[in-house]
Amino acid sequence: MGYKKRKEGVIMEQKRENWGSRIGFIMAAAGSAVGLGNIWRFPYLTGENGGGAFIVIYLGCVVFVGLSIMIAEFAVGRRTSLAAVGAYKSYSPRWTFAGVLGVLSAFFIMGFYPVVGGWALAYIFKSFTGLLGAPEAIGDAFGAFIGNSVEPLIWMVIYLAINVYIVAKGVAGGIEKAGKILMPMLYVLLIVVAVKSLSLPGSGAGLEFLFKPDFSKVTGQTFLAALGQAFFSLSLGMGCMITYGSYLNKQEKLPNNALIVTMMDTSVALLAGIALFPAIFAFGMEPAAGPGLVFVVAPTIFAEMGGMGVLFSAIFFLALMIAALTSSVSLLEVVVAYLIDERKMARKPAVYGTAIVMAVLCILSSLSLGALAGVKVLGVGFFDFFDILTDKIFLAIGGMLLAIFTGWFVKKEDLKDELTNGGTVSFGLFEAWYVLVKYVIPILIGIVAVMGIMAIEQTSLMIFGLLIIVVLAIFSNKL
Ligand code: TRP
Repeated sequence: MGYKKRKEGVIMEQKRENWGSRIGFIMAAAGSAVGLGNIWRFPYLTGENGGGAFIVIYLGCVVFVGLSIMIAEFAVGRRTSLAAVGAYKSYSPRWTFAGVLGVLSAFFIMGFYPVVGGWALAYIFKSFTGLLGAPEAIGDAFGAFIGNSVEPLIWMVIYLAINVYIVAKGVAGGIEKAGKILMPMLYVLLIVVAVKSLSLPGSGAGLEFLFKPDFSKVTGQTFLAALGQAFFSLSLGMGCMITYGSYLNKQEKLPNNALIVTMMDTSVALLAGIALFPAIFAFGMEPAAGPGLVFVVAPTIFAEMGGMGVLFSAIFFLALMIAALTSSVSLLEVVVAYLIDERKMARKPAVYGTAIVMAVLCILSSLSLGALAGVKVLGVGFFDFFDILTDKIFLAIGGMLLAIFTGWFVKKEDLKDELTNGGTVSFGLFEAWYVLVKYVIPILIGIVAVMGIMAIEQTSLMIFGLLIIVVLAIFSNKL
């Protein structure tokens, strides 16, 4: 089939080969899910949104929205055997825009993700070059580093180049192997850091912050942040998991796999919280420190450890970089696959062209934390622009569109057939899942989106994001 031929990229081939085994699929899906979202973003969002209450709402979003959407994405992908845009298009060209919106999300996420990936890369090396020597200066050093106009750009370009190398030429075997070693290592290290963090005097306040919800701090924004984070962290709302599902063999139980991936992703996020917050409180740091949180708190804990700290720190940031890499490769691949499939480009030019544009976006993002701090797009700097646009608008709306598509346009019997593997396995919660996807999730996301828009400071940014979606929808036939 033409479709298969067009998908001949090495990464995809690698994944397709591995899809034969259940572990291969789970590792790939979990590799995409577990990334900066869990270790960098989840803790700082928790800090900014008041702790426990945010976590409770986040877990609610994961269980009732994220898991259901993941099952739906797997089902649509495997049913159609097509990647996101093709899957929607094969139903009706009026739906093409929903897939294209996903591609746009991937593109914009890659407008800031490699910046942070570059920070992780830099910190592997900085661990050895005296970063931990002056624990009191770690926070200032981070601020100076990301605000610099040259150094972070170099690391970002190197990080992006690794992505390009993998997606263009495919050393997926290498990255997968590295992932298989480093991801468990990341787990172990997070546990080590958590134990250390918990043993610090005064750590109890951190646990309280995490697990004693104070609902008085909850606003519409908290729900929007939690929902956006659930989508971001689980790699949902832009067709990533549709694509992954399309490579899955017919024997796999979709709900079980979705549950495993979701649990892996959530456990890493919670572990990161438990590793960081007790130390944040023990050291008297600011929980709402924003994007710098993990880059300041983790090194401070490692500095406390003495001699071995340097090594732990280097491995920690290496593992973080690898976790980020397995995610950003999947994001780059979404855009590249679209250009190959729908725009008939060859793989290499698609990868290089995409990466160059992403690099430009990333340069703007990085500089917006320093030299270009004064330059605002619709009220925010470039970094926040890409972050807010995707996380608060595109992913949630993308998820809502998928839920509406699945609930109202795909035949119920087809879904049942797909989720029970043609009736050979049982999925006892099918009816509950169906009601969630068809009625509850679209309404819920609608309410949260409206609440978020009403309350957000960057109204013009919200309107801009929604406008993009409307324009895409109007011209869906032509996409
Ligand atoms: N989930 C990844 C993380 O937590 C980021 C990511 C990869 C992503 N692929 C995605 C987010 C697709 C949204 C959609 O870091």
